[in-house]
Amino acid sequence: MDAPRRTRDLRGRTTLVTGANAGIGYWCAEQLAARGARVLLGCRSPERADAAVSAIRSRVPDADLRILPLDLGALPSIATAASGLDERLDAIICNAGVKAADRAARTDDGFDLMMGTNFLGHFALVAQLAPSLATDARVVVVGSITHRYAHLDPARVDAPWRGSSLAQYGRSKAAAMTFAFELARRWKGSSRIAACAHPGYAVDPLSPRRSGLAEVPAFLRALAAPSRVLVQGKDGGALPVVHAATAADVVDGDYWGPGGLLELRGAPVRVAATDAVRAPATGSALWAAAETLTGVRFRV
Ligand SMILES: NC(=O)c1ccc[n+]([C@@H]2O[C@H](COP(=O)([O-])OP(=O)(O)OC[C@H]3O[C@@H](n4cnc5c(N)ncnc54)[C@H](OP(=O)(O)O)[C@@H]3O)[C@@H](O)[C@H]2O)c1
Repeated sequence: MDAPRRTRDLRGRTTLVTGANAGIGYWCAEQLAARGARVLLGCRSPERADAAVSAIRSRVPDADLRILPLDLGALPSIATAASGLDERLDAIICNAGVKAADRAARTDDGFDLMMGTNFLGHFALVAQLAPSLATDARVVVVGSITHRYAHLDPARVDAPWRGSSLAQYGRSKAAAMTFAFELARRWKGSSRIAACAHPGYAVDPLSPRRSGLAEVPAFLRALAAPSRVLVQGKDGGALPVVHAATAADVVDGDYWGPGGLLELRGAPVRVAATDAVRAPATGSALWAAAETLTGVRFRV
């Protein structure tokens, strides 16, 4: 995995990856760039975005990259990013995410930090970028195994929550996945594809080193090494996501993840999402709630 794939099969195709400066988003960007794609890195920190660009260029010297300033927790930033984009997009990978937060943590817009970033921000982004999408474009939402344990009530998307941060994270990922499957239904009959993918369990200490990115001390890498039988690096976690965004065998409404034990690691395979996140009534109610909360209408 450390040596980027050298085929140039994605030349001429442009993909926006949100949260491309770290973790799975970074590896998606590097893997896409290595295959000749033009990659837009949607990032909120110019310094971290620059570091990611340098790291990709150290592996792929001719990488075609552009930084798109983007804070998914701030609707004005999302609107500015979308209105400033003057090129056709072949894919959007909705990857950026907050995986744990305090109940009181809020986005700039006042939404719950995880629901606001992971779902509402991406809803507003895709809605406003829709006019830039190619006729065969793909939108891939990065989901999570945790969606299986989530109870999502569209009427209470931004309501105060109780219980664990992990449960709320699961709700936010379930919401993002429900959005993707609803988009797939609304795109039915077109050549566009909306799909989900999840990275299994992917951690930085098992990922190849990249200068300027999540520096993991050698002793932590050594401690983590035995866990490789169960889990994987974030480079491996990116594989199902990149597959969903690029592969010919992906169809509208698909869900991809790692094929190994418990879907924690392994090569990409089609996996099962719950009936709850695929339910049309939930998808349509969630879509309406997202339009109301964000003030962004998404007409397909
Ligand atoms: N790792 C796993 O095992 C796992 C499992 C299931 C699902 N996932 C999902 O995979 C995705 C990536 O996870 P990861 O482990 O790679 O996480 P990570 O290393 O923490 O990276 C998260 C990325 O999201 C960005 N981000 C967070 N808030 C943002 C905002 N308001 N605006 C723009 N970017 C923002 C971060 O940017 P900053 O550097 O600016 O914070 C960073 O680039 C997430 O959606 C996560 O839910 C991960």
